Amino acid sequence: MLKSGDDSGRLRLGLVPTMGYLHEGHLSLVERARESCDLVVVSIFVNPLQFGPTEDFERYPRDLERDLSLLRGAKVDCVFNPTAEDVYGNGHRPGTHVVPPQWLIERLCGEFRPGHFEGVATVVAKLFNIVQPNIAYFGEKDYQQLLVIKHMVKDLNMNLNIQGVPIVRESDGLAMSSRNVYLSEAGRKKAPIIHEVLSEVKSAVQRKASVQEAIAKGKQKLIDNGFEVQYLELCRADTLEPANDGEKPVVILVAAKLDKVRLIDNMIVS
Ligand code: PAJ
Repeated sequence: MLKSGDDSGRLRLGLVPTMGYLHEGHLSLVERARESCDLVVVSIFVNPLQFGPTEDFERYPRDLERDLSLLRGAKVDCVFNPTAEDVYGNGHRPGTHVVPPQWLIERLCGEFRPGHFEGVATVVAKLFNIVQPNIAYFGEKDYQQLLVIKHMVKDLNMNLNIQGVPIVRESDGLAMSSRNVYLSEAGRKKAPIIHEVLSEVKSAVQRKASVQEAIAKGKQKLIDNGFEVQYLELCRADTLEPANDGEKPVVILVAAKLDKVRLIDNMIVS
């Protein structure tokens, strides 16, 4: 049953871009889209352009049949599952790329994954042009990615709205991620320490205690438990510049490797 669309009577189209191997985090984006859109499209595309040469593109988990059955259950109207050739052509020559603002991508994940956000912005721009959604949904789990997309839409005058959706966690606090399946049994038990550390830094921010001390303690706790910490930082929620004392809203962001699996998470303090 189709609902009425916007004021012009057109149907409202929602897009949820994903790389598949879906979990409840992805499905929460679908649910949000279904609440406010007449038609929901989910894209499944493991985008080679956003993986570095030493990253896990080849071994990124894939299970299309399972994804399709989850999406059928979630009453999605259309699944867009293109090939790399559909998206990028035959690849003989590089095509036009979207370059997000340097100040936004030179730090945090961008520092450890050169070229990653160009790859994300380029594929998302292509998906927007192909699907032409009115609203597109992105998780706050990938906080820097969400800001990159919001800036792209604003800076390039793209005609759609971007909706951020809160992080969905396992019952022990671990943020859901397709990559969690790579964790060993022991690693899976340790992984929720990331969430503990974020909560501890958040509580220091709220108590107006020394944030730098809380961050140093948090990093040490991660290292002591076998994590390789890439960053644990307190940033301004709007620009991701390092936050000054007492500044709000802020976001605490972390990236750490465990069992060679790169995990990211964050917590907003508003
Ligand atoms: P992927 O990692 O599959 O994530 C797809 C979307 O699901 C992203 O917007 C991500 O932030 C969101 N998501 C993942 N885990 C989540 C969780 N635990 N809670 C809430 N949302 C969650 O992000 C990508 O794919 C790609 O970079 C993509 C945007 C599709 C471009 O290739």
